Amino acid sequence: METTLSIIKPDGVRRNLIGKIFAKIEDKGLRIAATKMIHLSKKQAEMFYAVHKERPFYGELVESMTSGPVVVSVLQGANAIANYREVMGATNPAEAAAGTIRKEFAVSIGENTVHGSDAPETATTEVNFFFAASEIPNKE
Ligand code: CMP
Repeated sequence: METTLSIIKPDGVRRNLIGKIFAKIEDKGLRIAATKMIHLSKKQAEMFYAVHKERPFYGELVESMTSGPVVVSVLQGANAIANYREVMGATNPAEAAAGTIRKEFAVSIGENTVHGSDAPETATTEVNFFFAASEIPNKE
C-alpha cells in the first residue's frame, strides 16, 4: 500500500474536468482517501514548488497555480506513486501517451492539468503540506 498526492490544477478545475480526472484515477484502481478544493495563496504555491525556485518558469508556475481553485487529493493503492504518474502521462502533454490525463486534457507544459508526487519522500511531504492526519478518513 502506497500513498501519493494529486493536485487538479486551476486549468483542470476551470474546465470542469474534476469528474473525468477522478474517473481515470479510480479506474486505475486507486482510492481517493481524502479530497478538498482550495485556492492557494501565493505564499503556499511558492512553498509547495520551492524546489523549482531557480527555474525560469517558477513565476509563471506560481501564477497559474494561484489563478483559481485546485482540488488536492490523497490517493492510496498498490504502487500509487508510479500508477498515478502513469495515469497523468508525461509532464509535457506533447509527449504524453494516449489515454493519459495530460494527453487528453492538458493545454501546455505550464498548464498541464494535474500534479502527482514523484517519490515516497515527496509524497509524504506533499500530503502533509495539505492534509492533517484527521482529514484522511478513508484509510484501508
Ligand atoms: P508539476 O508536475 O506540477 O511539477 C512542476 C511543474 O512545473 C510542472 O508540473 C509543470 O507544470 C511546470 N513546468 C515544468 N517545466 C516547465 C517549463 N519548461 N515551462 C513551464 N512550466 C514548466
